[in-house]
Amino acid sequence: MGRRKKITHHFLKLSKEHTIIQEHLDTLAQLLKEPDITGNILDTLEAFCIDLTEHFAMEEEILFPAALMGIRNLDVTDSIILLCKEHGYFERDLAIILEQLHKEDADTPLSRDLKTTLESIIGTLRHHAQRETDDLFRQMDASRECTKLLKGYIV
Ligand SMILES: [Fe+2]
Ligand SMILES: [Fe+2]
Repeated sequence: MGRRKKITHHFLKLSKEHTIIQEHLDTLAQLLKEPDITGNILDTLEAFCIDLTEHFAMEEEILFPAALMGIRNLDVTDSIILLCKEHGYFERDLAIILEQLHKEDADTPLSRDLKTTLESIIGTLRHHAQRETDDLFRQMDASRECTKLLKGYIV
């Protein structure tokens, strides 16, 4: 972990990051409700994917290793393996959606299929973040070892 880049806040910054992710998801859900033209949804989704990729990287490179070393429990290990798999699925599914959106006419309303797919991903992402917050981060917060391991990342 020492070789990796430092983060500028305590790991509870994660809850703040989840608020940002939540805001992106709310904006997207709102656009889908209206429903907005494809071009606007594409711009919003692209901005969201940049933040989401950074967020996943921070979890995978900094937080999850700290949880694995600090908590050392099979349930936590299983849950982290699953969370990482889900990150991969989200990245794959969102990349496919972005590719499809790029092919659509930017000024036309979003197709029903893409709308349904996006709504489903929004729901799954909310559930993923909720599980992290309610389960893993809560356990990390209660672990002195985790806090100690992550101290080196506070600038
Ligand atoms: Fe995650
Ligand atoms: Fe997360």
